[in-house]
Amino acid sequence: MSELRVADDVAGFTVACADRVAAAAREAIAARGRFVLGLTGGSTPEPIHRALASAPYAAAIDWARVVVVFGDERAVPIDDPRSNYRAAREALLRHVPLVEAHVLRMRGEAADLDAEARRYAEAFEREAGGELDLLFVGLGRDAHILSLFPGSPAIAEHARLVVAELDPPMDPAVSRLTFTPAALGRARQVLAIATGAGKAEAARRALEGDEPASACPAALLRAPRPAGATGGVTWLLDRAAAGSLRATPTA
Ligand code: 6PG
Repeated sequence: MSELRVADDVAGFTVACADRVAAAAREAIAARGRFVLGLTGGSTPEPIHRALASAPYAAAIDWARVVVVFGDERAVPIDDPRSNYRAAREALLRHVPLVEAHVLRMRGEAADLDAEARRYAEAFEREAGGELDLLFVGLGRDAHILSLFPGSPAIAEHARLVVAELDPPMDPAVSRLTFTPAALGRARQVLAIATGAGKAEAARRALEGDEPASACPAALLRAPRPAGATGGVTWLLDRAAAGSLRATPTA
């Protein structure tokens, strides 16, 4: 099951996303004593990260009980401008009182990306119990999600949680580390996010198309949730990204 919420603009989209994080954090910490938050890369999440680091959200979330994981990472050094970790650190992680050991960084600088993928999967299982309370997933213009690009063999990966994508046809043109569909199934709640008219066709394909995931990786979010995945998928768009959809409910 998936839900669609459409905000009038990026400001409304940002509040809707941040509200979802705060609510999920309250529920997870009350139920299990911790909140495992999965961050996506790219530029879409930046206003959400900045909102979470500001009032009222910064004080509303018990950051000492938050574990941060990454859905994907570029194979670049930690302070490279293309690093998803660097972007999250500058907009959010360095501004809130997280426990450093609870931020599980994918080591994009690793010389052996396959070994790093295996290490990260083990760390995810050990430090986060191998599950996510809320996972953000951005949407590429080509309808990719995470670093699962159209035609990638990793789209059919249902055993390993993390794999390396070597030289994918993506921008920026660097190798990646990425969660797989197996990891998507470990998320209690997935928030698929997109803003701007440039994502309208990808959002239409993802939400209203019937392409297979091999051609439209975002179709993985239409797949029936695996047994044990209690939550669902919520698409949170602004009106521009929803511009090609038949029906657009309000956020
Ligand atoms: C990455 C992202 C990727 C991103 C989409 C959207 O590392 O590139 O994880 O999946 O979410 O490409 O990117 P924008 O938000 O920059 O449009």
